[in-house]
Amino acid sequence: MKILSIETSCDETGVTILEGIGDRITILGNALASQIELHAQYGGVFPALAKRAHAEKIIPLLKEALSAANLLRVSAREISTADSAYIQELFPHDEALVGKIIDIASHYEIPAIDYVAVTSGPGLEPALWVGVNTARALAHLWSKPLYPINHMEGHVVSALFKQTGEKTYSLEEFEYPALSLLVSGGHTELVLIDSPLSYKKIGATRDDAVGEAFDKVARILGLPYPGGPKISALALDARRQSQDADITFPRPMLHSQDYDFSYSGLKTAVLYYVRDLAKEHPNILKNVKMISTIAREFEEAAIEVLVTKTKKAIEEYNVQTLLVGGGVAANTYLREQLSEKISVPILFPTRELSTDNSIMIGMALYYQLSHGKEKSALENLEADGNLSL
Ligand code: KG4
Ligand code: ZN
Repeated sequence: MKILSIETSCDETGVTILEGIGDRITILGNALASQIELHAQYGGVFPALAKRAHAEKIIPLLKEALSAANLLRVSAREISTADSAYIQELFPHDEALVGKIIDIASHYEIPAIDYVAVTSGPGLEPALWVGVNTARALAHLWSKPLYPINHMEGHVVSALFKQTGEKTYSLEEFEYPALSLLVSGGHTELVLIDSPLSYKKIGATRDDAVGEAFDKVARILGLPYPGGPKISALALDARRQSQDADITFPRPMLHSQDYDFSYSGLKTAVLYYVRDLAKEHPNILKNVKMISTIAREFEEAAIEVLVTKTKKAIEEYNVQTLLVGGGVAANTYLREQLSEKISVPILFPTRELSTDNSIMIGMALYYQLSHGKEKSALENLEADGNLSL
């Protein structure tokens, strides 16, 4: 079964063609464009800019992915007036994108794919709509069934496939109940999975997500967006050189009786600490040693809460397998701490599949279909920025 999948929920535009056979997945074509440089100047993702960048990139990326999969074959096809009108209605304010979609449909063969999968939420709505409407247009023009995928289910499923070769993955065997720790720029969630495809959220952040806290603290420390990888690298240096801070940042909700999180107070604690320190050291942001010591203490506070709550949930729910997903799953210290403190088997996604990508969206549809999920194709699919698991 061949799936075309599209992801545009935040600042990465992704298009993938994958083939699933039994427990194995082969990536036939994959194209990803990051908007990090575009947003870096604003210190975060700017929705209107994200939407425009997705709209510019999506068809070139589709062509790249189809071509890599050997599915981009020149052949003239007539597009009916009704079909052209349908595409125009989907993108009333984007002539350029309408033109590119009509072009690909009229100059190339219908590709031999079986399904189209697209992230329908959660995420930035203007960004999500680009992917959703492009998927609707292609599914309509090529007469392919179209399925919405929850971005968070993509992050969950990304941990279930083990990379076996450059382009191949195979489904891991694991025991239930499983627990998924989802840590990204928009989410911090613990999701209990009793059986395939049954997701029960048992805790979530009450304010900022953990990745968002990394990004905001990076900004306070004068580091560019996205902050996670930069903070993590500085913290690693501080740890290697045994630089300890003479301060302990708070571990919000560490001992609360639930599985919720809160990261906004931790970020504010860093802000106040840096502000006070700047009175004595006006050039603090140029002092790499000081910055990396703060980065270390922040990272350790943020991650201690994640690890402690995850461990508690594993004990209470008799969890047999821990799955980790989302951009912060790429964090080395988190991986180390979980591996050290958690006694059940842990499945991590590859680093490529940790941050946003369209491979995990195709994997999620494949996983659903191969676990017998009855799905009806949705021609009039809508984006939903607040979609929940
Ligand atoms: O899953 P993702 O790519 O996008 C969302 O769905 O939000 O996650 C992006 C987030 C950003 O906040 C980024 O700073 C964080 O993941 N991140 C990291 C690391 N790599 C990415 N945070 C900590 N350590 C990392 N190595
Ligand atoms: Zn994500």
